[in-house]
Amino acid sequence: MKEFDIQKILSDIDKMYLDDEYISYISDLIENDAVKSMKNFIQHGTTTTLEHCLKVSYVSYKIAKKLNLDAKSTARAGLLHDLFLYDWHKVKEKKPLFKKHGFTHPQKALENACKYFHLNDIEKDIIAKHMWPLTFRKIPKYKESIVVTSVDKYYSTIETFEPLASKIKEKNFQSKKNYSE
Ligand SMILES: [Fe+2]
Ligand SMILES: [Fe+2]
Repeated sequence: MKEFDIQKILSDIDKMYLDDEYISYISDLIENDAVKSMKNFIQHGTTTTLEHCLKVSYVSYKIAKKLNLDAKSTARAGLLHDLFLYDWHKVKEKKPLFKKHGFTHPQKALENACKYFHLNDIEKDIIAKHMWPLTFRKIPKYKESIVVTSVDKYYSTIETFEPLASKIKEKNFQSKKNYSE
C-alpha cells in the first residue's frame, strides 16, 4: 500500500483545482447546472452544499487512490452525494423521524444524480448509503462507500462547529485585548 498520511491529504484540499486527474474525473459534473446550483444552499454552518461536496469528493478521491480503490467513482459520487437540491434548514413541515431529511436525502440525491448522469453501481451505492450508520439498514457494499461516508462525517462535524469555534476564539481574543489595554 502507498504511504498514507491523512493530515497531508486534508491539508492538500486547496490543491484540488490543480489536480488534473481529479478535475478530469469531475469536469462534466461541475459544469452541470444542477450541480452548480448546490452553491445556493447552506449545508452546515457557513459552508455551501457545493463546497461541502467538493471537499468530501476530493479528500475521498485521494484516500481511494492511496487504498487502490476506484478513485474515479469515489470522486464523482462524492461530488453528487448531497445533490438533494433544497435548503434542508427551511423544511419546517413536521414529519415522522424516518421521513426527516437525514434519512431521506440520500435517496433524493441519488434520484437527482440519475436524472442527469449515468452512474455505475459503486457510485449509486456511495450516494445511497452515505448516511450510514444513521440509515442503519443501508449498509455500504463497497470500500469506496465507507471512505465517502467517513469523510462526509468528518467534514459535517468540522463545518457544523467551525462558526462556534471562531466565535469562541474571537471572544477570547477580545477579552485578552481588553485585559492588556
Ligand atoms: Fe448527506
Ligand atoms: Fe454530505
